[in-house]
Amino acid sequence: MNDKKNILITGGAGFIGSHVVRLFVEKYPQYRILNLDSLTYAGNLENLREIENHPNHKFIKGDILDIELLNSIFKEYPVQGVIHLAAESHVDRSIHNPDEFAMTNIIGTIRLLKAAHSAWHGQMNGKMFYHISTDEVYGSIADGYFTEQTPIDPRSPYSASKASSDHFVQAFGNSYGLPTIISRCSNNYGPYQFPEKLIPLMINNMVNSKPLPVYGKGENIRDWLYVEDHAKAIDAIFHKGKSGEVYNIGGNNEWKNIDLVKLLCSIIDKKLERADGTSAKLITYVKDRPGHDMRYAIDASKVISEIGWRPETDFPEGLEKTVAWYLSNQQWLQHVTSGEYLKYYDKMYVNR
Ligand code: NAD
Ligand code: TYD
Repeated sequence: MNDKKNILITGGAGFIGSHVVRLFVEKYPQYRILNLDSLTYAGNLENLREIENHPNHKFIKGDILDIELLNSIFKEYPVQGVIHLAAESHVDRSIHNPDEFAMTNIIGTIRLLKAAHSAWHGQMNGKMFYHISTDEVYGSIADGYFTEQTPIDPRSPYSASKASSDHFVQAFGNSYGLPTIISRCSNNYGPYQFPEKLIPLMINNMVNSKPLPVYGKGENIRDWLYVEDHAKAIDAIFHKGKSGEVYNIGGNNEWKNIDLVKLLCSIIDKKLERADGTSAKLITYVKDRPGHDMRYAIDASKVISEIGWRPETDFPEGLEKTVAWYLSNQQWLQHVTSGEYLKYYDKMYVNR
């Protein structure tokens, strides 16, 4: 029990974090996964039901801003590696409330870096601080693809806060010799995604015959990756990545928002045995998101050639699985949308 390797995963009750925690807990019996999450509106212990009582999993409810808590975790468990996912993650919220994004994403990351540095000082061997970032730090690209050399050019408060945290991670590597890795991934989709993001929001609204709010003309492009493929990339990079490096992760799967929403409509119509075209009638073009990035597109050739990871789930299969999951987890949807989220959502749509 005591010779287990302790890995601290932050944000493990959120969407991507819960998939990463589940993968690590099941795949690595030699690890103890310390899952630190403050359970904001986006974090939910129901996302971790299957591994609730797993002996390799220890959930710690707490905030990455709480430096005393962080130091006490590093003291109690000799932590060998950190995989840092905790963040405020929704662009629309960041436009309404940038301060909260700066606090968690920038200051929270600095506190976590400080705690790791002070615990590992003089014994950096075998340690790793792995920061999970986003392709949004590169800004918006008209043609071609983001590579790891593309200059950082964040354009929303969310991406500005993530870009800042990326710089601090690299600064801790450079100034204090902390072993660090950063990966920057494209848009994820799949089970357990909070229904404020495009795909689960649309599924939820279709099921409830509510309007489907498409921002602007629906021509913005995103590169979509199934969340379990991202979790596998994180596993591969954590174990095989080189300190000081950045790795882009993407699905090579670009979709215009409107085409994606129409595809989802046809999947839902079939699954719910509705007449073809029923859900598409709900599509409603609404005022565009301010500063809406037009296109994200990732070149993932480095992680493919150097780490040996590649996306496994093709998009129609991943979307089918995702829709099936949301249809059979209506209770989860009701639970996660029953609290603070609805108040926010109503306010936001009144403001639009
Ligand atoms: P999410 O919003 O679903 O989950 C975030 C989790 O962090 C929640 O469980 C929340 O409770 C926790 N959290 C928030 N503030 C905290 C704090 N101060 N202390 C402790 N815990 C806190 O986000 P997600 O979509 O799972 O994204 C996870 C990470 O991956 C983020 O860093 C995000 O920037 C990055 N990312 C997301 C995507 C995507 O498409 N969702 C793509 C690329 C990168
Ligand atoms: P989102 O899921 O918020 O991810 P991100 O902004 O981080 O890429 O949005 C994905 C795309 O879908 C983005 O171009 C904005 C658009 N969108 C809508 O058109 N309607 C919506 O209700 C939402 C939430 C997003």
